[in-house]
Amino acid sequence: MLTGAKFSFKMGPVRAAWALLSLAPLFVLGVPPIWTQPEQVHLSYPGEPGSMLVTWTTFNKTESKVEYGLLGGRLFEMTATGDATLFVDSGEEKRKMFIHRVTLTGLKAASTYVYHCGSNDGWSDVFFFTALNDSTRFSPRFALYGDLGNENPQSLARLQKETQLSMYDAILHIGDFAYDMHEDNARIGDEFMRQVESIAAYVPYMTCPGNHEATYNFSNYRNRFSMPGKTESLWYSWNLGSAHIISLSTEVYFYLQFGLELLFKQYEWLRKDLEEANKPENRAVRPWIITMGHRPMYCSDDDQDDCTTFDSYVRRGRNDTKPTAPGLEDLFYRYGVDVELWAHEHTYERLWPVYGDKVFNGSKEQPYVNPKAPVHIITGSAGCREKTDRFNPNPKEWSAFRSTDYGYTRMHVVNSTHLYLEQVSDDQYGKVIDSIWVVKEKHGYSSWF
Ligand SMILES: [Fe+2]
Repeated sequence: MLTGAKFSFKMGPVRAAWALLSLAPLFVLGVPPIWTQPEQVHLSYPGEPGSMLVTWTTFNKTESKVEYGLLGGRLFEMTATGDATLFVDSGEEKRKMFIHRVTLTGLKAASTYVYHCGSNDGWSDVFFFTALNDSTRFSPRFALYGDLGNENPQSLARLQKETQLSMYDAILHIGDFAYDMHEDNARIGDEFMRQVESIAAYVPYMTCPGNHEATYNFSNYRNRFSMPGKTESLWYSWNLGSAHIISLSTEVYFYLQFGLELLFKQYEWLRKDLEEANKPENRAVRPWIITMGHRPMYCSDDDQDDCTTFDSYVRRGRNDTKPTAPGLEDLFYRYGVDVELWAHEHTYERLWPVYGDKVFNGSKEQPYVNPKAPVHIITGSAGCREKTDRFNPNPKEWSAFRSTDYGYTRMHVVNSTHLYLEQVSDDQYGKVIDSIWVVKEKHGYSSWF
């Protein structure tokens, strides 16, 4: 008995410890962490001069405030408030997050502001941005690319540093983010948005959707970004300097399960937007019309994508739908679109001015001086887990320059007649491997003839 009593006395604490250990997961599940700290801060330009929109994420509900002030002035002397929307990811865990949006207004053009965002439950780091100059004589500089992922984001460090050195006024991300934002119950989206914060919290990060955003009907894309207009960032336009920039979804041509009507709605919106931009009083002050969409109309890659076919859906539309769906090439040509920016192919390709599969150079010696058709650039090699693509060894005559290096494009809209484009190779440590000046004394449909 004595031995037994001793034995049970010895086992008591051990059993108790086991019992506690077996309950441990319950304690963990029972007390979730408090997540009121802002993260994933990014900017976008709402299209109204003197404004800037700050978007960020918290995992618990908090107020949405931005405190800001002019650089060199009193810190946080102004406050703007906004709202948060609840985004529930459609993955198994149904993860919830609050996306906060605050619009700053009345900003002085070209002035630099210091800001942080959050609430009294937690503030972000301190960031800065320069309010966009709304003058039509302003010469904005852009970095642009598509297909940047969470894994293997090769150009990211260079882009971060150049953005923080104030080399760009805005960034254009032409679809395909994170690879993919919905994965791991949208944790890949969270991590990607943290990765690009060091760019996107300093300059407007303007986007369009790509095929990698399609899961759950583009819900991660539609919820996380805050582009102008009321289309959940799917298509919109905005002005900067002497440029009118149109962002569109090429994906409406491919994911018909989310609604063929989207394709027609966008087409109609594009037509109206282009008509408005072409009114003589508008085109006179913003002569450059630049489009950005994810999947190109033309490309020389060997992957059988839409752009490798003569009957590209984006270019020529679809005749297997009821009613048949118009493509974008004729529309853009009719309204004198100057430059068309694309991605999706994990390469860089510059085309000679092209329309209807034919080259329309300005002249033999100066193809981009008064070109007789739109100029296409395909820049989808920023870096992602799918690596780079390969080219067809026999490109068509409209293919002017090709590179499989990782990299991105810079664009400088200098004035109403001159626009400069160059390609940066990250593989070659930032070397500029291609550049052109597009010079146009006239813009619009009549400039083709
Ligand atoms: Fe893509």
